[in-house]
Amino acid sequence: MAGIEGKVVVITGASSGIGAATARHLAQRGACVVLAARRPDRLAALCGQIVAQGGKACYRVTDVTRRADLAQLVGLAIEQYGKLDVLISNAGIAPISLLDELRVDDWDNMIDVNVKGVLHGIAAALPIFRRQGFGHFVHTLSTAGLRIVPTMAVYAGSKNAVRAISEGLRQEAGDKLLVTTISPGYVDTELPSSMSDPAAREKGLATMKQMAIPAESIAEAIAFAIAQPDNVDVGEIVIRPTAQA
Ligand SMILES: NC(=O)c1ccc[n+]([C@@H]2O[C@H](COP(=O)([O-])OP(=O)(O)OC[C@H]3O[C@@H](n4cnc5c(N)ncnc54)[C@H](OP(=O)(O)O)[C@@H]3O)[C@@H](O)[C@H]2O)c1
Repeated sequence: MAGIEGKVVVITGASSGIGAATARHLAQRGACVVLAARRPDRLAALCGQIVAQGGKACYRVTDVTRRADLAQLVGLAIEQYGKLDVLISNAGIAPISLLDELRVDDWDNMIDVNVKGVLHGIAAALPIFRRQGFGHFVHTLSTAGLRIVPTMAVYAGSKNAVRAISEGLRQEAGDKLLVTTISPGYVDTELPSSMSDPAAREKGLATMKQMAIPAESIAEAIAFAIAQPDNVDVGEIVIRPTAQA
């Protein structure tokens, strides 16, 4: 089914930034969006706005580090709308720092959210996609995985783990399922709030102020991939500010 109208799209990390912008954009274009994140107030407010504007949306509080949460989330999509067309695994954190600082808890959290969170999504949606005979995985990576710089080793590693998993998934997916990765550069979102190292957060905020592009640009790129006909798989999208080296 080409286009966006009528597609059922689950979005993790939908309470702010890229996920929220993508939910708004897709709902405006006729998708039924299922919003997921940990903050219920944010999800309820966004869901309310989409519905007030004539869109179709529901939400479920979800922690992507918990496998059962993802199973229940995709279950909600099926229960509400009868199918699942797209799972956008977008939830992510970036508590970046130099390795010398040994912020091992931050490393663990990045693996849990950025890598295991995506795997939990695959585990939940793949059997449904197989049963249906259609389905599209969209995974948010980062240009941090393309040009590795100091402080971003573990973050880049987590994104490149998902890059490898996505390529393996694409090869195993056969001719019915689609797999897209999108690698944004600096985007104006709340991501610096996940940076627990004050120096890294300051630097992140300053760079964002200087050059970040709006989250809506990423939403439009995701929509482009979703709108393609069933036999057209947009594999990788890289989208960054022109000012980003
Ligand atoms: N902004 C950038 O410059 C940039 C660049 C490249 C890639 N990215 C990637 O883009 C994605 C979206 O980030 P963003 O920039 O939009 O930042 P953001 O505004 O901070 O959004 C991150 C989202 O992830 C959710 N989240 C975090 N931990 C979660 C968990 N355990 N379970 C469920 N949801 C969780 C947050 O919601 P709750 O706190 O409510 O759970 C929030 O909705 C991330 O994967 C990030 O790595 C961002």
